Order: sequence, then structure tokens, then C-alpha cells
Amino acid sequence: MNTFTRLLFSVAAGILPLQLAAAPAAPAVSPRVAEIITTRCALCHGAEGESASAIYPRLAAQHPDYLNKQLKDFRDGRRKSDTMTDMAKDLQDADIAALSSFFASKKAGGRQPGDVDLAGVGKYIFQRGNNYSGVAACASCHGPQGLGTEQLPRLAGQHPAYIEIQLKEFNKRARTNDNSIMHSIAAKLTELETKAVSVYIGGLR
Ligand code: HEC
Ligand code: HEC
Repeated sequence: MNTFTRLLFSVAAGILPLQLAAAPAAPAVSPRVAEIITTRCALCHGAEGESASAIYPRLAAQHPDYLNKQLKDFRDGRRKSDTMTDMAKDLQDADIAALSSFFASKKAGGRQPGDVDLAGVGKYIFQRGNNYSGVAACASCHGPQGLGTEQLPRLAGQHPAYIEIQLKEFNKRARTNDNSIMHSIAAKLTELETKAVSVYIGGLR
């Protein structure tokens, strides 16, 4: 085999990783993972992890370990979601790891500030909690900018509608995996606080 044939062979056999065209800074992903992204994930979460619809979470800049865990939990039925269980059911651990580092490596896009007065109430809850009802400050775990940690999800710039849905799901324990901490917090939030903190989070960067 000459060098050229060997190169062609490697690409065809999936040995050489391909770079997704629209993703200059992304880690190289295998053709299999590139195909999963373009034919599946991108439909709802966007090719760059910047979901266009407010009910689909942004994945860009989320922590890879968190993404990895959530994907396994969807696949294995620990986090119940008809849509995501279906999306993850045939993924192998290596696919999940590659998808997680791909989306985690993407930059979070610009944010639209929401309703300023509502965001003000949300800022108070996020930064200081509510001493009168026993809500802990979100910032104490998720960080003052909502950037999270390796184990704790980044919230900054997430779609407010998605945040609100998750807070309500934690409250009802409809988010079925690891809900104990967030359940105890969400259960104490009023409707106004839930909306307000979601709007505030959406404007964090
Ligand atoms: C048909 C739309 C759709 C497609 C396609 C899709 N997702 Fe999702 N995804 C969702 C929805 C809806 C949720 C929120 C699920 C919930 O909590 O109820 C979600 C949640 C997630 C989450 C959890 C995020 C968080 O902040 O907790 C991850 C990670 C994820 N999706 C990754 C992927 C990957 C990777 C793919 C491709 C294999 C994919 N999704 C394909 C709709 C979709
Ligand atoms: C004591 C620590 C702690 C505090 C305080 C806290 N959280 Fe969390 N939060 C967590 C942990 C841990 C998770 C991850 C749960 C998991 O792994 O599934 C989480 C997950 C979340 C998620 C899901 C993110 C996603 O991408 O799906 C949202 C939304 C959230 N928290 C919002 C809040 C808000 C709003 C507040 C303040 C009212 C708050 N949290 C306060 C620990 C905390």
C-alpha cells in the first residue's frame, strides 16, 4: 500500500478521526460519533450544543463528567425521559464519553437578558437564598456565576424554560436520578421564585 491508499483505508475503516466541518475548536471525533451528532443530537441540541428551542437544554460548555453521567443515566433508565432514553439506548460507553467531551468543549453563546425586575428577584434567591423559607443560595453549590464544578452542573446561560421544567421535576421527583438535594430545595421555591431564578440564570455568562 502506498501512503495515499493507506490514508484512504484508514479513513474508511474509521481508524483516522474526522473533524466536524463546522466545529474548528472541537476535539476530533470518530466518524461514528460525528454521525450520531449530525443525525441525532444536533436536531434538538444544535450542532454546537446551543439548542435553538428553549425546552432542549444547552449542552455547550457543560462539564463533561456531568454530561457523561446524565447520558448513562438516560440510557440505563435511571433518569427517565422518553425522548432521551430513546436517543441514548444504543450508545456505548466510549460513544458517551466522546459525545460528552465534544459538547463540553463548545463555547457558550451570547445571552439575551430577560425581564429585569424578575431577574432581580432571581438574583436575590440565587445569590442569597431565602432565609424565611429555608432555601439555600444556589450560588453556594453552583457558584456565584453559575459555572458549577466538575460534578455539579453549570447553570449559567441555560434556557430559562428548561431550568423551570427541571425545578418542577425535582420538586415532584419526576427527575428520577440523584434528586434528593435538588428536591429539598425546589420543594421550598414559590412559583414566583422558580420563574425568577430561572430568568436570572438564563442571563448569567
Ligand atoms: C428529539 C429531541 C432530542 C434529541 C434528538 C436529543 N435530545 Fe438530549 N434532551 C432532549 C430533552 C427534551 C432533554 C431534557 C430531558 C428531561 O430532563 O426531561 C434532553 C436532555 C439531554 C441531556 C441532559 C442535559 C442536562 O443539563 O441535564 C443531555 C446530556 C443530552 N440531552 C444529550 C443528548 C445527546 C448527546 C444526543 C444525541 C445522541 C441527544 N441529547 C439527542 C431532547 C433531545
Ligand atoms: C447543596 C447544593 C445545591 C444547592 C444549594 C443548589 N443545587 Fe442545584 N444541583 C445540585 C446538584 C448536586 C445537582 C446535580 C443533580 C444530578 O447530578 O442529577 C443540581 C442540579 C441542578 C439543576 C439541573 C441542571 C441541568 O442541567 O439539568 C438545576 C436546574 C439546579 N440544580 C438549579 C438550582 C437552583 C435554581 C438552586 C437555588 C434555588 C440550586 N440549584 C441550589 C446541588 C445544589
